[in-house]
Amino acid sequence: MQQVSQSVLHQTGGVSEPDRETKQTEKCNERVSAVLGVMMCGVLMACPAASLPQVTMRHMREVIGYKAGDSILAPGGSISNLYAAIAARHKMFPEYKKKGLMALPGQLVMFTSLHSHYSLMGAAAAMGIGTDNLIEVPVDEKGHMLPSELDRLIQEEKGKGKVPFFVCATAGTTVMGAFDPLHAIADVCEKHKLWFHVDVSTGRGWEVAEGRGMMGGRV
Ligand SMILES: Cc1ncc(COP(=O)(O)O)c(C=O)c1O
Repeated sequence: MQQVSQSVLHQTGGVSEPDRETKQTEKCNERVSAVLGVMMCGVLMACPAASLPQVTMRHMREVIGYKAGDSILAPGGSISNLYAAIAARHKMFPEYKKKGLMALPGQLVMFTSLHSHYSLMGAAAAMGIGTDNLIEVPVDEKGHMLPSELDRLIQEEKGKGKVPFFVCATAGTTVMGAFDPLHAIADVCEKHKLWFHVDVSTGRGWEVAEGRGMMGGRV
């Protein structure tokens, strides 16, 4: 503190004038205590502030029924879709993180419905997969993804030598509010060993979590 005071005094030109010196010292003390005050506040507040998201996420996992696992907070639906696709790629090709594109066995392809949110397109572009490799699965007249078409398209892409790794279903599509048939899609994903992500961005996550409403109690 003394050193800081001195350096502030030094900036005044070292005029030895008692009033001025006192004022400068006071000013300096104010500044230092303001800094220390913020730091103390940081120390006192950091623990609860840092643990709040952890506590919230643990509770959310319990609500869903997950006994273990981890979570991440996302600022919105678009970023959540991107995170999901990145997680899927990492799970399937962990070497990608260190070695990049050369670690991949071929051109990756991802699948989503024709009515899914355009952020999936953004994810395909941002991840270097390319929007041509986001395959849009046809929907029925109410906007639900057709699982039989998903199965057919996955086989078609495999036949072209491409590498399917990710399927996104939507529980509440942006325009029609359609709930994709999650169980039938999950069966297709299991058959082809693909990551299954559900985009639940319209406030109906509770229905998925609790297995009621449009889910027909099947989750
Ligand atoms: C189904 C669906 N997914 C993703 C998004 C994107 O969410 P956000 O705007 O929070 O990025 C929306 C937004 O309307 C949506 O309806």
